[in-house]
Amino acid sequence: MLATLPKIKLVFILGLVFCLHGSLVWGGSFLLSAHGNKDIGVKNINYQAYSRGNCAHCHQQHSTQKDPLVLNNNPFALFASNFDTSSTTGYQQEDDFCFYCHGNPSVQEGGITNYDYARTFGGYTVNGPTTILEAFQQNSFHNLYDIWTFAKNTFSSFFTPYSNPCVACHNPHLVRRIKANVTDPAPYTVVSLPTDHGSLWGDENGERMSDFDPGKYQAPKHYQSGYEPGGNAAVWDGSNLPDYATFCTACHNPVNTIYSTTLGRNLIKIEWVDQGGESGPGDKHGKNSATEDVELKSPYADSNLGISLGFTTSCTDCHEPHGSPNPFLIRREVNGVVVNIDLSQKNGIGWLCRACHMDDHDFDPDIPENSWHHVHHGGGPLIEDPPYPSPVRCGWCHGGPPGANPIPCLNCHQHGLDDSWLQDVYSTYYTGRRCF
Ligand code: HEC
Ligand code: HEC
Ligand code: HEC
Ligand code: HEC
Ligand code: HEC
Ligand code: HEC
Ligand code: HEC
Ligand code: HEC
Repeated sequence: MLATLPKIKLVFILGLVFCLHGSLVWGGSFLLSAHGNKDIGVKNINYQAYSRGNCAHCHQQHSTQKDPLVLNNNPFALFASNFDTSSTTGYQQEDDFCFYCHGNPSVQEGGITNYDYARTFGGYTVNGPTTILEAFQQNSFHNLYDIWTFAKNTFSSFFTPYSNPCVACHNPHLVRRIKANVTDPAPYTVVSLPTDHGSLWGDENGERMSDFDPGKYQAPKHYQSGYEPGGNAAVWDGSNLPDYATFCTACHNPVNTIYSTTLGRNLIKIEWVDQGGESGPGDKHGKNSATEDVELKSPYADSNLGISLGFTTSCTDCHEPHGSPNPFLIRREVNGVVVNIDLSQKNGIGWLCRACHMDDHDFDPDIPENSWHHVHHGGGPLIEDPPYPSPVRCGWCHGGPPGANPIPCLNCHQHGLDDSWLQDVYSTYYTGRRCF
């Protein structure tokens, strides 16, 4: 391992020389980046001598580090250790170089505020994290140790054993200023595909949600008015949103096996592209289409796209990229609705579904919110294809009298699942329909 150090260090010093001579290794793109910007870019309070946006606010030009351990994890001559690989969960500022600026306190002059996706693009301004460090300190979060492990094994062309897990998704020399352009973030994207780290993803035509599945992406509602991202009232087809479906599936696809320390198991593999209908394996929230009938709320029910079936959603319609008070990085607000999930309740995840789908309360206001008889058992002419019409032996499925005993939704509704849970419980009712 040590043998590779001098080489990386050499590459780095060459880059820095380019910088000092004003001709940049990334062409002019560093100057366009949020970090290289001469007005709002990097300005480390400990390096006042350098002008704003200079590489030296992150890279020490004459490294004084004597501690071999720090040096070991820091061949890029950064002002702090890049990532503490002994930190497997629960983050503090020292664990990651980026947190020194994107945390509170911050060595960036004046500090930096970054809200979560639900606030910046969804418009839900109540509470929530105000820095990236805080975003990773919530109930669920992208485990940085696991990302580091996965990226060094999978994307070794750019990701070294000394790399920073944030760098699996971001190129710090390219990231643009997305938060200042919330209604049209795509040209100002911050992400790079881990399969194409030297370039931004989302900034060019062909890299938008409207390109992922043309004519099928309906932007969710913004919490205040208009559509996501940012409450844009005039654009609702994802042509202003980076294609986060392609971005997230660069890692979460049917091929990669991904271990999660937090969950203590391998993750479900996400199939967002296949269109095999009920025989699967594609998720219906991806390119695969819902079948026959689906009971959706606005803006799906009255979509300007002119379709009522066949929609595709973006991962970020439901998930945060960094962390959330909800489990599984589920957003605090989805489609203009506040979402609070307590998984100790069997129907806890239902609070997410009802942000977009009609529950019994939406059909009949006398029934409490988050009850789901209608879409499963039918209810008048409204529901065309309930999976379990005219049920008998209620307790076989419900485990007791229905009502007090909701069946845990996650038995059937998870990425990749159909209702095969029934095969052990009451197999005559098994439908084999894709449930997510
Ligand atoms: C916001 C902080 C920041 C700024 C500003 C910055 N860098 Fe970096 N740079 C990093 C980090 C972090 C890494 C380590 C990447 C990794 O973890 O793999 C890095 C890595 C590098 C590398 C190694 C190759 C690579 O791309 O990973 C070179 C060369 C480099 N930087 C040069 C520069 C130059 C030249 C500038 C100014 C034009 C600059 N950096 C500005 C944070 C920064
Ligand atoms: C799994 C991929 C992924 C990882 C890992 C990741 N990010 Fe992000 N990050 C994203 C995506 C996607 C966005 C764009 C959406 C948004 O702004 O919320 C983003 C946005 C950001 C933003 C802009 C937020 C704003 O104000 O809108 C910052 C700053 C940022 N990330 C920093 C970091 C840092 C620091 C780390 C490591 C501690 C990190 N990210 C790790 C995917 C990732
Ligand atoms: C020396 C301080 C500093 C360090 C270290 C630093 N950043 Fe930043 N970062 C900034 C500043 C300053 C901005 C732009 C200010 C703002 O938008 O408020 C910024 C902006 C960003 C943005 C764009 C967000 C937006 O929309 O404004 C991303 C993404 C980002 N940083 C990611 C990272 C990642 C990833 C790392 C670590 C590899 C990192 N930063 C390390 C200072 C820093
Ligand atoms: C660079 C690879 C990579 C990318 C890109 C990526 N992830 Fe992940 N993701 C991982 C790894 C590794 C884990 C396992 C660690 C963990 O559980 O946090 C994970 C875990 C998750 C989890 C489960 C976390 C938990 O604890 O419940 C969710 C949800 C998730 N990712 C969603 C997303 C979304 C949404 C995106 C796109 C915005 C995305 N991921 C992009 C690598 C990635
Ligand atoms: C962001 C909005 C959104 C959320 C949140 C959401 N869905 Fe959906 N769901 C949709 C859309 C849009 C479709 C239609 C897809 C299509 O037309 O291909 C759909 C389709 C479905 C289908 C297919 C129905 C059929 O007739 O084939 C099922 C099952 C489903 N969702 C279950 C759920 C469950 C369970 C939850 C909660 C865990 C949930 N959804 C959360 C938007 C959402
Ligand atoms: C094949 C399995 C199955 C059988 C058998 C079944 N149900 Fe259900 N039922 C479901 C599913 C799935 C849901 C949605 C999850 C939930 O809310 O429990 C549901 C929901 C309900 C709900 C709304 C949620 C609640 O618990 O208040 C009621 C009421 C209900 N069923 C009544 C009945 C009655 C009465 C019977 C027997 C005549 C019955 N069910 C038999 C699968 C079944
Ligand atoms: C026994 C398996 C099972 C359980 C448990 C279950 N569901 Fe379903 N659910 C289904 C099936 C099957 C469908 C129909 C999919 C289709 O139409 O192709 C469905 C459909 C749905 C839909 C989409 C309805 C539409 O067409 O708009 C939602 C939303 C939903 N369920 C929510 C829930 C919630 C919330 C719970 C827990 C309270 C739950 N389900 C429990 C099997 C289940
Ligand atoms: C309609 C809302 C919705 C959308 C859209 C969505 N997810 Fe999820 N996701 C969920 C829910 C609910 C869970 C928890 C149940 C489960 O594990 O499937 C989850 C869980 C996950 C997990 C953890 C799986 C595990 O092993 O427990 C990962 C990883 C994940 N999602 C990634 C993605 C990616 C990548 C995308 C886009 C390609 C995406 N999700 C789109 C709702 C959504």
